[in-house]
Amino acid sequence: MNRPSPSPQATTTGAEPSVLRLENLGIHFGKSEVVKGLSLEVKRGECLAIVGESGSGKSVSLLASLGLLPGHAHVTGTREFTAADGTTTDLAALTPRQWQRVRGGRIGFVFQEPMTSLNPLTRVGEQIAESLRLHQGLRGNAARHRVLELLQQVQLPRPAELIDAWPHQLSGGQRQRVMIAMAMANEPPLLIADEPTTALDVTVQQEILALLDGLRRNQGMAWYSSVTTSIWCVAMPIAWS
Ligand SMILES: Nc1ncnc2c1ncn2[C@@H]1O[C@H](COP(=O)(O)OP(=O)(O)OP(=O)(O)O)[C@@H](O)[C@H]1O
Ligand SMILES: [Mg+2]
Repeated sequence: MNRPSPSPQATTTGAEPSVLRLENLGIHFGKSEVVKGLSLEVKRGECLAIVGESGSGKSVSLLASLGLLPGHAHVTGTREFTAADGTTTDLAALTPRQWQRVRGGRIGFVFQEPMTSLNPLTRVGEQIAESLRLHQGLRGNAARHRVLELLQQVQLPRPAELIDAWPHQLSGGQRQRVMIAMAMANEPPLLIADEPTTALDVTVQQEILALLDGLRRNQGMAWYSSVTTSIWCVAMPIAWS
């Protein structure tokens, strides 16, 4: 590996229980070692930002925590998720079927470019409802009611109209809010975000970061995110402590 691995920067250091623990994480693609010896712990209600230059392995280490690395990746080290009831899951041992229950249900995620994460052929509300159906068995009016509540929670204007909109009818910031609504639909104790604001303009970036931080403060949701190496972004999580 010719680049330093990304480094974690945490907002809080209290005695809260751990939600995610990585120890000595290593990631290889063939002979190429792209992450070496990454250890970190994300605790309940904590925001932990992973910082590093382009290509240092931020995205792949987040993807390893979501079971989304391609099949040719070789991952070593410990990856543990602990639920609110204290049950610890060895993420490295999950089958693809078990991952489906964890991802979106117990670990929410938001990626950099919401247009590629949202299905362009499915209405916004239906996409959120699908996650509620999959993880909570919620359908019909109950699901629609919860979707409207989530759209309000992420401060989208006119939720009753937006629920039936197509992704291309929304602005970039609105699409990212939809992704966040989807990520928090099942109230996961952990949200993993890969540069969630990079594709947005500066004002919207601040609004989205404030929204995510509100979820951390109000719901105790831990947040593990990559950020760019800009001083502004690195300073944000520290300012929130
Ligand atoms: N699917 C893959 N197959 C092979 N190599 C990969 C794959 N995905 C990532 N890599 C390599 O892993 C290394 C780390 O990539 P990663 O995307 O994690 O960087 P990053 O820190 O997120 O960079 P950026 O800030 O540009 O998003 C890079 O050298 C990249 O080429
Ligand atoms: Mg990346």
